[in-house]
Amino acid sequence: MTLWKGRFEKPMSQAMAKIGQSLVTDMRLFPYEIEVNRAYSIALQKVGVLNEEDVQKIHVALDEMLNEYEAGEYTTRKYTDEDVHSLIERRLTTKAGPAGAKIHTGRSRNDLMLADVHLYLRDQCQLMKKQIGDLGRALLRQADKHMGTVLPGYTHMQRAQPISLAHYLYSFCFYLYEDAKRIDTVLEGQLALFPLGAGAIAGSGFPIDRELMARRLGFKGVSENSIQTISSRDEFLELGSALAMVMVHLSRYAEDLIIWSTREFNFVELDDSVTTGSSMMPQKKNPDSLELIRGKAARIIGDLQTLFTLHKGLPLTYARDLQEDKPALFDMIENTEISLEMFTEVIATIKVNVEVMEGSLSSELIATDLADYLVKKGVAFRESHEVIANLFKSLSLGGTLTMKDLKAASPLFEDDAEKILDPKEAVKLRDVLGGTGPESLMRQKRILSRYFSG
Ligand code: ARG
Repeated sequence: MTLWKGRFEKPMSQAMAKIGQSLVTDMRLFPYEIEVNRAYSIALQKVGVLNEEDVQKIHVALDEMLNEYEAGEYTTRKYTDEDVHSLIERRLTTKAGPAGAKIHTGRSRNDLMLADVHLYLRDQCQLMKKQIGDLGRALLRQADKHMGTVLPGYTHMQRAQPISLAHYLYSFCFYLYEDAKRIDTVLEGQLALFPLGAGAIAGSGFPIDRELMARRLGFKGVSENSIQTISSRDEFLELGSALAMVMVHLSRYAEDLIIWSTREFNFVELDDSVTTGSSMMPQKKNPDSLELIRGKAARIIGDLQTLFTLHKGLPLTYARDLQEDKPALFDMIENTEISLEMFTEVIATIKVNVEVMEGSLSSELIATDLADYLVKKGVAFRESHEVIANLFKSLSLGGTLTMKDLKAASPLFEDDAEKILDPKEAVKLRDVLGGTGPESLMRQKRILSRYFSG
């Protein structure tokens, strides 16, 4: 059934039906539209379009439809309606009779769909915030176990300086904290404004109480301009940008762990439950979970690109192009959600090979600390940089420096330089706020525990 056949003499072509069908995609909105209809029927009663009995019938029918939805009725292929709105109105009319046929008074699918999507997005944002919290907490638990574990830190993928593993894990947590804040900002922006009542473009033809509906459905307020309301999907673009950032972050940590799990590094081992074997090579254990997350990051950035491109130069207000926003939107949300869930499992089950990590610490990592030591003895940094560079020139790759080497390089090295020679000790010297030293770690732990406690 279509909602608009009145003025047409010919039926829709098969290609038109096929290109226009959005039911499978927007079925996700089904339960939200039931809620919107509940509130809308009350608003229609207030303006005299429905009476109390109509509203009651509608509510009973909506309850039934929600039960049917939860029982899986609407996942079958037997529905061929154009979209979820047509399906719901048709079913409602079958169940509630003439009252159901009045439900679309004074509204358009343009504003109805936006109301549904806003409710859907609110739920998904809450879920993703929780998932970010779960990942943060899994990282904090690992960090607790590895306050004292030290590994080489890399810049340019070259050994740079020793860092604490907890410091590294906390870096991921701080990214996540900012990610969660960005989602909050989206939640509090245009997404918190109730769009229904904007009509097709110019506002509803009935003085429906938009504020009453907004309150019932938990919105902060109502949108002020029907043209902007119908045209805009800025909340999708905002959320998409936030999610693309989440995925970029996940992809970078995924990449590090993939490298760390190679035989060459062997810093970590991924749990069997988050890896797969090879159909051909019996020895393989592949980090597919992390590779898929890395791959999904590309997909989600692509979804965001789709959303931006859809809007570029689109005339105001609504054009059917905008139907293509939902596959991209749902895809980015569902794939971010599974990625967050997956990464949490990876972190919760990861085995850190502390001995290998610490066994790979070598003297080159403390070059900067040695240069700093000479600065503290009054040498200009550029000069001490030179002295230490020369010292490493003569040291074989990965070789270990001794006190004798230091003293030969500069008479300013005294016995107290001994503690710098050990990268595990050198880490403790970087105790500036934000550094990898122990005081800084405790401070980060305090801050992050507060962030992720809720
Ligand atoms: N399925 C449509 C979409 O998602 C709903 C709005 C249809 N509006 C219209 N004027 N045909 O964009």
